[in-house]
This record gives sequence, structure tokens and C-alpha cells, in this order.
Amino acid sequence: MEKSLPFPQGFLWGGAIAANQAEGAWNVDGKGPSVADAITWKPNLSLKDYSGHMALTDENIRDAFEGKNDALYPKRRGIDFYHHYKDDIALFAEMGYTVLRVSIAWSRIFPTGEGAAPNEAGLQFYEEMFRELRRHNIEPLVTLSHYEMPLALSEKYNGWVHRNVVDAFVRFSNVCFDRYKDLVRYWLTFNEIDSIHRHPFTTAGIREEKSAPGKAQQDIYQGLHHQFVASALVTRDCHAKIPGSQVGCMLTKLTTYPHSCRPEDVEATLKKNLENYFYADVQVFGEYPPLILRDLARRDIQIAMQADDQRILKDHTVDFVSFSYYMSMTESTQPDVERIPGNTVLGVKNPYLPASEWGWQIDPVGLKISLLELYDRYQKPLFIVENGLGAKDVVENGEIHDSYRIDYFRAHFEQTLAAINEGVDVMGFTTWGCIDIISAGTSQMSKRYGFIYVDQDDEGNGTLKRLKKESFWWYKKVIASNGADM
Ligand code: BG6
Repeated sequence: MEKSLPFPQGFLWGGAIAANQAEGAWNVDGKGPSVADAITWKPNLSLKDYSGHMALTDENIRDAFEGKNDALYPKRRGIDFYHHYKDDIALFAEMGYTVLRVSIAWSRIFPTGEGAAPNEAGLQFYEEMFRELRRHNIEPLVTLSHYEMPLALSEKYNGWVHRNVVDAFVRFSNVCFDRYKDLVRYWLTFNEIDSIHRHPFTTAGIREEKSAPGKAQQDIYQGLHHQFVASALVTRDCHAKIPGSQVGCMLTKLTTYPHSCRPEDVEATLKKNLENYFYADVQVFGEYPPLILRDLARRDIQIAMQADDQRILKDHTVDFVSFSYYMSMTESTQPDVERIPGNTVLGVKNPYLPASEWGWQIDPVGLKISLLELYDRYQKPLFIVENGLGAKDVVENGEIHDSYRIDYFRAHFEQTLAAINEGVDVMGFTTWGCIDIISAGTSQMSKRYGFIYVDQDDEGNGTLKRLKKESFWWYKKVIASNGADM
């Protein structure tokens, strides 16, 4: 009989949130507006229209700079984690978390992204939060950029298109390393760095309408290149300043299967997956893949690189590969296939898979496939830093019975263990939105991922009271048994 291994000792179990979706307090204690603070909730838009949900107007930008119309902008209020973090961390500790993934809102530290000195109140907030985590023996896993760059940098430079933003980010990151060097060992540079192509404004402050005619793609690749260089530079600085620190890249793992075995479908799928790998390839191998360079040349996209850039990428690669995984898709070249929504993408429907209420196709085996693919390709430790089910929870007599969420996680944990048994090195698992927060894609509150319910609706009404869902107790048991009791 085959011998089956348990989750490794020291496997990191926990949850993940992002500052812009959780903290609220968007203009408190010196914080400047971020790109997230300019995105409205759009209740009447189709779920298929992801770019529409993240779109914005000049008026939205003005509102953010002038501090107007808060009610329209859910990420400004988040779930007020800024004022509730101690109680929330106590709940995470009660579940037994050994890791919590959070991000640092850049505009809390540098309100405009630049300027003479960092904002002490912002630095103090994260210091206290990290100390609170440590008091509960929870390891912070910190993302430096998670869809929340200072709005002022977006306006001044069209975001990451301009090289000056590299310097500003390196400065911000170094301020964080200096201040938190005794508190934080695990760092991620850019959340879902690939998403710059799907929502360039929230990822990189880039507004395509500001590009010269026909040059929007060129600007996006330029912004991406700057993020690659910035990521390598801060990886260098983190290693130099924090002995024993580990820095990861972070990819949206958009696992895609051929819709049929027609060679055309297989080729289209291969290209989609190669494109998805490209972002991690640069950060792990330290160079652009030749097929991508050829593709860029054919599309007449020229990336301006400084003399040292290639060496910087090569010399400062990441220590581990982290990724989000929610769903899988299929691909086809046939015109008559049905396309359904996934995580800021549309993919061809897979007839073998169920889907969430938002149309995302639930595929736990796809997580195992992703782990095998990524480990075989990179041979670096992997960290699943986002996975979860967005669902509409119902409160009945003060209770939430979310067996659908338990089923989702059980299946994904089982497939993670199966991959570990086949030799994949997995550092940990942080479930997404471990407490209900504002959706990144649709700015809804009603798209809930948490083990902890937060009493707030899409319009911001509610007491913000926290309630433990049925899944809270289940996850506590899973962690206590290191995954043996699921
Ligand atoms: C990931 C993002 O892509 O997906 C998160 O990193 C986001 O910020 C998560 O919240 C789930 O997406 P959504 O749109 O359901 O919030």
C-alpha cells in the first residue's frame, strides 16, 4: 500500500486580507488616497464585465483627492480593520492561525508616494499590528503592493509607466524593512503582478486613455518591466537588511485546460498558460522568456530598459513562489463556445465543473495540477496565499451555516496534501478573505469569503459586528490537527 504523508510539521496555516479591502480609515492619521479609494461599487453591471467594475472617471479621481462622496466608494470604509484589528487578530488566534497575510498601504506611509519623510502614524499602525500578531505567535506575511498605490503617483506619472515610481517604491519598501526588520520575515513584492494587463489602474495606477494612440499595451509592458525591476531591487534590499528573510513573487494562477483535444484548442491553451507563467518566470529565472521577447517584438512593443536592468533581474530572484488559485477555465478557438467569468478573466465553460454564484468554476484538482506544474517548473517552495469561495451567506438566528465553504476548503486542502505527497514543497496556505472584506473585483460586501461574518451590506449599512460562521469552528479543528481532521 502507498504510504501517505501528513501536512509537514510547521506548515503555515492562516488567512489573508489586503489593506485596501479591509482597513477602511482611508483618510485617517495622515493616509493619502490610493487608487482603490477611487473605485465605486457598480450594482447594475454584469458580473462578466470585470473591466467595467474597475473602471473609473476623472470625477472619481477628483472625489478621492477632495474627499467627497464616501458612500459610493466601499474600499474607503473596508471593514474598519484599522480600528478593529486587535479583536480580529484575537479571533484569528482563536482559530489557531500561525500566519496572517496582510498588505501595507503605501499611501499610509507616503501619502503621495514621494515627499521628505514617511508618515509616522502610518508606520506606527503597522508596527503595532505586527506586534499584536507576534503576541499571538502569528507570523506576518506582508505584501508591499496589493492594488493600493498612492493615487498621486498615478496622476503624476501615469503610475508605473514612469521610472521614478521604481525609486519611490524602493524607498517605501526600505522604510518598511528598516522599521519592521525584527517583526516580519516573509515578504511578497507585488500581488498578482500579472493583473497589470487585466486592470492596469488598480494594479499599477495606469490609465490607458493617457497613452499615446496605439501605445496603451506598450505602456502597460513598460509599467510591468518597472515592477519587475522594483521587485528585484527590493528583494536585494530585504535580504541585505533582514537576515533570514524570504521574499516571494505572487502570481494569479489562471490554470487553463484545452476545451477539446483539437490541436488548435491545445495550442491556444498552451499559449495562455505560457503567458500566465511569464510573470513568475522573470522573477524566478531572472530573465524574460525568449518566446515572450519574440512575441513582444512581433507586436512592435519596445520596453525601455536601463543598462543594469537585466543584471538586476538576474541577481535578485525570489526565494519562493506564491500564488492565488480560485478556479480553472478552458480555452478554445471555436467561436460558439460559452465564456463565463472567473477571477478578472473570462474563460470557456468546463462542463465537468460546478461554479460559484459569481460563475467562478470550482476545481480542487486544478489546485493540485497547479502545484505540480509550478513546482516542476520552478523547483522553489510554493505558498498558496489566496484560495476561497465568495458566497452570499445568510444569517439565521445569529448563526451562519456555510457548509458550502467547508466543502470547498476541504477539497482544496485534500488536493494540496495530495500534491505534497507527490513531492511538492508547500510552505503554507492562507485562505483568502478569512474575515469578510470588500471584494477587489466588484467592490461588493455581499461577496463573502470569511470564516468570520461582518455585519455590513453593499451600501455600508450595518454594525460591523463580527460573527463566527460554522466554518470558523471547522478551520480551527483543521489547524489544531495540522490537517489530519478535515
Ligand atoms: C485576488 C486578489 O485576485 O482575488 C484579491 O488578490 C481579491 O484582492 C481576490 O479579493 C478575490 O477576488 P474578488 O473580486 O472576489 O474580491
